[in-house]
Amino acid sequence: MSRNRRIVFGVVGLVAAGLLVFAIWHDPAHTGSTADPALVLRGHVTDESGSAAGIRIRFQGHAESTLSDADGGFALPMPKSVLNVTAWKPGHFVGFAPSDSRPLTIELRKLPPFDDENYQWVDPRPGANSFSCGNCHEAIFDEWRGSAHGRPGETSRFRDLFLGLDVQGKENGWSLVREHPDGSEVCASCHNPAPSGQPNFLGTEERHWGNVHCDFCHKISGPASGDIGLAHGRHGLELLRPREGQLILGPLEDAARRENAFSPFQRDSRLCASCHEGVVFGVSVYSTYSEWLASPAGQSGIQCQACHMKPTGKMTNIAPDHGGVERNPAAIANHRFFDTDQRTMLARSLKLNLTCSAASQGVRASVTVTAEGVGHRVPTGLPDRNLVLVVEAFDAMGKPLKAVDGPSLPSSVGDEFHGISGKLFAKMLRDSEGRSPVPFWQATQEFTDTRLRPGIPERSTFSFPAEAAKISAKLVYRRFWPGVAKSKGWQDDTWIIVEMIEPITKQD
Ligand code: HEC
Ligand code: HEC
Ligand code: HEC
Ligand code: HEC
Ligand code: HEC
Repeated sequence: MSRNRRIVFGVVGLVAAGLLVFAIWHDPAHTGSTADPALVLRGHVTDESGSAAGIRIRFQGHAESTLSDADGGFALPMPKSVLNVTAWKPGHFVGFAPSDSRPLTIELRKLPPFDDENYQWVDPRPGANSFSCGNCHEAIFDEWRGSAHGRPGETSRFRDLFLGLDVQGKENGWSLVREHPDGSEVCASCHNPAPSGQPNFLGTEERHWGNVHCDFCHKISGPASGDIGLAHGRHGLELLRPREGQLILGPLEDAARRENAFSPFQRDSRLCASCHEGVVFGVSVYSTYSEWLASPAGQSGIQCQACHMKPTGKMTNIAPDHGGVERNPAAIANHRFFDTDQRTMLARSLKLNLTCSAASQGVRASVTVTAEGVGHRVPTGLPDRNLVLVVEAFDAMGKPLKAVDGPSLPSSVGDEFHGISGKLFAKMLRDSEGRSPVPFWQATQEFTDTRLRPGIPERSTFSFPAEAAKISAKLVYRRFWPGVAKSKGWQDDTWIIVEMIEPITKQD
């Protein structure tokens, strides 16, 4: 660049920086207490080829930013206390320097050039070693530990179905290892994508790490080239594991630590897709990602994270006392992977409407079920998840009355509801002899799918005898088919999400 142009750019840069300084002074909400309006902080940002132009510069934890000029120079309002000044550019770690360093130079270091397969995964549990994520991110660790990703595997329902055990540890019910022994590696690619190196997939120390642990997700750098749904779990994702030192990929541009790098992919549904979409043994077992693509949320670009990692609004520091700074709580994602919990989300999204009309020949009940504010079909995930609409009529003495018309529930819903009026919303897998429900490792490719579609109401009408004095409608969510839950001894598998009761007023 010629000397003259450099001067011109320099002047333009100074004017721009001056305007920004002015803008920040006049933003009392953010910088009133931290910035000294009388002074300007000047610095310089470099990368491997010298001065770095057009780089976003901000104080750690602050939203306001400026861009470096053509010479890598920048100006910010002088903070009242020492803050880290941060910078980031694609392919680099987050660069930073304390605001009182002179000269104030931020060096952008390049990310490692390749993924090292010999990398040793970090045990996330607090105190396990010097870089355990839980040492510094205690609150995030607790959120994650309570989630399906973080729960230890030893006593899980996954273990019971995989090894074919019941809660007492005795052989009972469906079993992957007995019924499809060569399939276990397939499960591991999503359920245990980053093993600690011990040979046994289940029942060993490694499962204390949780199913999908911190270090795995925060080494994901992008999608792998395979087809979504066919390249599962770790095989559907590009990782970046360093040969030496550490590297953490995250959603923040300004997380001032040598190990950290920003990755926009962390806010993308594709990060979840590799495990939440899966054709397993030829059957479309998991289809949440493709359901999302087709949903109103997917069409308008609302990612999984927006609903499932929605900030709790309570966390203000991601690593208190370990270098973390106060941040806007509305910008810190939650690691429970549910907004509160699944039951609360189900209750918020499922709408039930019941209207009854009485005439001399009988009572008509009209029921509408709609799933709203959800990014996929309901239920989604494992095909065993099922949602049952149960509609019942009672006479004046409280005796149940059988419907004279309308749909009734199939035997797969279990003895409690079989034959009662209602509807089943589920993926119904069957085996080659037509038996249903069956585990997905014994199913054929064809199945019936009656699950709710987001935003589309499901209407049904039922007729009951004229003696009906009260009609009730309820929605029951179950994580597993009742026969399976019973053989395994699992408790608390049934949730009544919403229930409505209508008294019938006779109009003759
Ligand atoms: C299933 C993948 C996954 C796992 C497991 C996971 N994270 Fe995250 N984490 C994410 C994603 C995705 C984001 C970004 C979310 C966003 O900004 O919308 C994130 C964000 C973060 C952030 C930035 C601050 C915030 O919460 O927004 C920190 C720090 C973090 N994770 C630490 C951890 C730690 C510590 C663990 C383990 C205890 C962990 N993560 C486990 C996916 C994961
Ligand atoms: C010694 C303390 C310490 C340990 C150990 C640690 N972190 Fe962090 N981490 C931090 C600090 C400090 C920040 C930045 C906080 C801030 O800017 O407010 C951070 C930031 C992050 C971010 C955001 C990065 C970005 O650029 O978006 C993620 C994600 C994260 N850590 C994950 C992890 C994971 C996963 C582990 C374990 C493998 C881990 N951390 C271990 C202290 C630690
Ligand atoms: C490496 C694979 C993997 C990735 C990546 C992943 N998940 Fe998961 N997820 C799983 C597995 C496996 C389970 C079930 C674990 C269990 O129950 O034993 C699960 C469970 C869940 C659950 C709980 C379901 C329930 O019924 O309790 C939610 C919600 C979820 N994931 C959301 C997400 C979101 C959102 C993302 C992306 C930010 C994501 N997952 C990324 C593998 C993954
Ligand atoms: C618009 C908000 C929204 C978006 C976007 C969204 N979800 Fe959900 N998700 C919900 C709600 C609400 C529920 C609770 C209803 C239910 O369980 O089906 C839920 C439930 C789930 C469950 C639990 C299923 C079960 O029954 O075990 C999983 C797993 C899940 N979502 C994964 C994802 C993934 C992966 C994505 C992105 C591809 C995603 N979700 C996008 C709102 C959303
Ligand atoms: C493509 C990735 C993927 C593969 C491959 C996979 N799973 Fe899953 N699995 C998931 C996800 C994601 C969930 C969470 C969905 C939900 O909660 O509805 C899950 C949930 C489950 C659950 C429910 C756990 C609970 O506590 O409710 C069981 C059981 C299960 N899987 C068994 C298996 C078995 C056995 C295999 C191997 C034959 C397997 N899975 C292969 C991704 C996968």
